[in-house]
Amino acid sequence: MRLSVIGTGYVGLVTGTCLAEVGHNVICVDNDEAKIELLKRGGMPIYEPGLEELVKKNTAAGRLSFSTSIAEGVRNSDVIFIAVPTPPLPDGSVDMSFIEKVTREISAAMDSYKIVVDKSTVPVKTGEKVAETIRRFRKAQVEFDVASNPEFLREGSAVEDFMHPDRIVIGVQSQRPVPALKEIYAPFNAPILVTDINSAELIKHASNSFLALKISYINAISVICEATGANVVEVANGMGMDKRIGRAFLDASLGFGGSCFPKDLSAFIKIAEQVGYDFALLKEVQRINAMQMDRFIKKITDTLWVVKGKTIGVLGLAFKKNTDDVRVSPAIELCHRLQGQGAILRVHDPKAMEKARAVLKDVTFVDDMNAVPDGCDALVIATEWDEFKQLDLERARRTMVQPIIFDGRNLFDPAEMARLGFIYKSIGR
Ligand code: UGA
Repeated sequence: MRLSVIGTGYVGLVTGTCLAEVGHNVICVDNDEAKIELLKRGGMPIYEPGLEELVKKNTAAGRLSFSTSIAEGVRNSDVIFIAVPTPPLPDGSVDMSFIEKVTREISAAMDSYKIVVDKSTVPVKTGEKVAETIRRFRKAQVEFDVASNPEFLREGSAVEDFMHPDRIVIGVQSQRPVPALKEIYAPFNAPILVTDINSAELIKHASNSFLALKISYINAISVICEATGANVVEVANGMGMDKRIGRAFLDASLGFGGSCFPKDLSAFIKIAEQVGYDFALLKEVQRINAMQMDRFIKKITDTLWVVKGKTIGVLGLAFKKNTDDVRVSPAIELCHRLQGQGAILRVHDPKAMEKARAVLKDVTFVDDMNAVPDGCDALVIATEWDEFKQLDLERARRTMVQPIIFDGRNLFDPAEMARLGFIYKSIGR
């Protein structure tokens, strides 16, 4: 089918590329000229495992192209996906201005029947607003349908998630667009759930909030584990063996971050407030998440006594492994807070150093992870990159002022670290 995707961020670019990979003709549109130029030249604006190869392959095959013109995208496609940012406003509600703007531009360019599909994470009832906007701004009296098709991919495994989804959710106002939307997703062999638009929109906010709740739940358990000598990993393993609970998203950590969970929680709390419901449960999820970072910082200050003037190594800057995204990264927050207490930082991330340079000042960026601990009073692990498990611990113990490691991601075995002579503090163990 002929498709266009408006917005080439993590969701838009992966969506467009993967839809091309299964045989559709896709135009990816973005108003960022530099980004589109880069993509046309074969460059990549983000790091996402496997994405670059797929972009190259599908561009070469003529199925994937890039443009800065929404009109060009709309006129040359039957189905238009909206995948633009929905950032938070200061009060936690969602800034809908990008969605509204591209909807207006799509409406003005529509010259025949189109299906306009929202893929961005939006408040319930956005579909109604999109339809209303199209009716108001379309120049030709063409027919159209609006649909909601929330995306569940995770950064760091976005291509894998998109190509092998647990489910496809399609929210519609009428049955007319359903066959076309089912055809688009047929190659993925995943269950397709067709709902009304409001339910589809709610599925996304409800899912992300539930996953964040799972993380805060295990982080709360980690507090009890630390107080009682239990091991949070064992507890999570034991809980996770119950199929009703599942092991995923039960990794205790220094807290969740990224461009989705924190923003979506705030938005969902606000949406609930607007319909008269106090979603206190989700406020508690936020509180536990903030507390988890506070507790981690306290562990560092309690151990080091004085942080001012100490050199601390930080492994990991991205908000999670396998991405270069540092937006709302707990690792970056940790760096800022340690700097606030006067620490001198040596930092490393396998992929996120370049993006981190924009938000981290007065730190030493170290290219070799094994050189990070050299001369440090303590080492902190802030992101769960697999390569950190291969850290040269012998060298670290020799070159550190004191062999102290704070592991915010539980990458190492506490008994083994003690045997190697480290003062080792992790989460909930
Ligand atoms: C999340 C959802 O998992 C996706 O399904 C959704 O599509 C996406 O948001 C979105 O709305 O666009 P993402 O934020 O990319 O995906 O990454 P996650 O893997 O969910 O991780 C989020 C944060 O939680 C990270 O900081 C991660 O380190 C942390 N986390 C995750 C934990 O602390 N413990 C866990 O067990 C799992």
